[in-house]
Amino acid sequence: MKVTLQNLTKKFPSRGRKARGEVTAVDDFSFEIPDGKLVGLLGPSGCGKSTTLNLLCGLLKPTSGRIFFGEDDVTNLPAEKRGVGMVFQNYALYPHLTVLQNILFPLENLKGAAKLSKAEMRKRADEAAKLVQISELMDRRPGELSGGQQQRVAIARALVKIPRILLMDEPLSNLDARLRLQTREEIRRIQRETKITTVFVTHDQEEAMSISDIIVVMKEGVIQQIGKPQEVYDTPVNLFVAKFLGTPPINVFRGSVRGGKLWIGKENVLDVPGVSDREVYVGIRPEGFIPVQENISSEALREKSDADSGVFSCRLSGVEVMGRDISIVAVHEASESPSIRAIIGAEQRVDPGSAEVRFSIRPDKLFLFDRETETRISAVSL
Ligand SMILES: Nc1ncnc2c1ncn2[C@@H]1O[C@H](COP(=O)(O)OP(=O)(O)O)[C@@H](O)[C@H]1O
Ligand SMILES: [Mg+2]
Repeated sequence: MKVTLQNLTKKFPSRGRKARGEVTAVDDFSFEIPDGKLVGLLGPSGCGKSTTLNLLCGLLKPTSGRIFFGEDDVTNLPAEKRGVGMVFQNYALYPHLTVLQNILFPLENLKGAAKLSKAEMRKRADEAAKLVQISELMDRRPGELSGGQQQRVAIARALVKIPRILLMDEPLSNLDARLRLQTREEIRRIQRETKITTVFVTHDQEEAMSISDIIVVMKEGVIQQIGKPQEVYDTPVNLFVAKFLGTPPINVFRGSVRGGKLWIGKENVLDVPGVSDREVYVGIRPEGFIPVQENISSEALREKSDADSGVFSCRLSGVEVMGRDISIVAVHEASESPSIRAIIGAEQRVDPGSAEVRFSIRPDKLFLFDRETETRISAVSL
């Protein structure tokens, strides 16, 4: 089922203080979720993710704009008529009911033509339980299950009505790290098997990147970028998106473009023909640094470095060997954060005893952002 959000806006009256006006939790959202895809809504706490889900499931009415499921305009349809399955962070299972009774619960309230026989209900519940692999737990109560198992029950309960779309609001947040990883892969598998159009909300960029077909990056109620995870990582539209995706995070420096050359401090780090003179933020992904291997005396280096193009020098503060990779921690006066982090392959060499480390920069891992607007500057050469 394709889902379309059309100029969707939700405003709340502002609470507390004397503040006048309103909070725009969702500001003019327009996008289409293709049939059968898993879309990740990603953004920091308070950016409007839950509000968007609640608009989709019908718990909230939009201030303006429309929602379509397929060709049906569902904007004014009550929640129970939308055919939506919801999964929340806190599972929300009934503690006094068994797993089976919890899964059956949504079916028992079906009315009229939708009403199922006892046998049909049991068949549906068994199928849903099998899908999430909890068939052997049907007689237990939620208190006798691990967090991961409880969340599976919640997913089975959301699937048992065979929803048109599945909405999940931070479903993994209550699980410990290992279970989170495992359950995330389970959700991916279940979604692929059922092909139910799914919206998955998280503030965790790694989770969103790994599970989603498409991610929607949000900030303060405004969509920043929509795309495949890798596309958004490789071509962020602005500094916020660049900083929000990636671990370790992107390194940001103050720099300037003069005469087609990018300068950070006194060094011409890269040639950027076609970019007009201006002040910029320079974002460099941790994997964009290549240590320069040289056998020149440090004095000769220093003479070279001012005029030479394509080199970026930092003060070395640590080298951490992590098996497959080496993590280099360094300091640079133009950096926006106290230390910068580069990741290089374990086969490369950096002398942990040296005071300075020199890099060349991979152009495809370097982004320029206008210092005022923070939007990315695209140039043919970048
Ligand atoms: N019922 C409400 N009344 C007033 N403000 C709300 C209400 N629900 C959410 N908000 C506000 O809307 C914004 C978005 O909230 P929410 O959608 O819960 O964000 P997220 O799920 O991304 O953390 C926040 O500023 C929040 O305080
Ligand atoms: Mg939320």
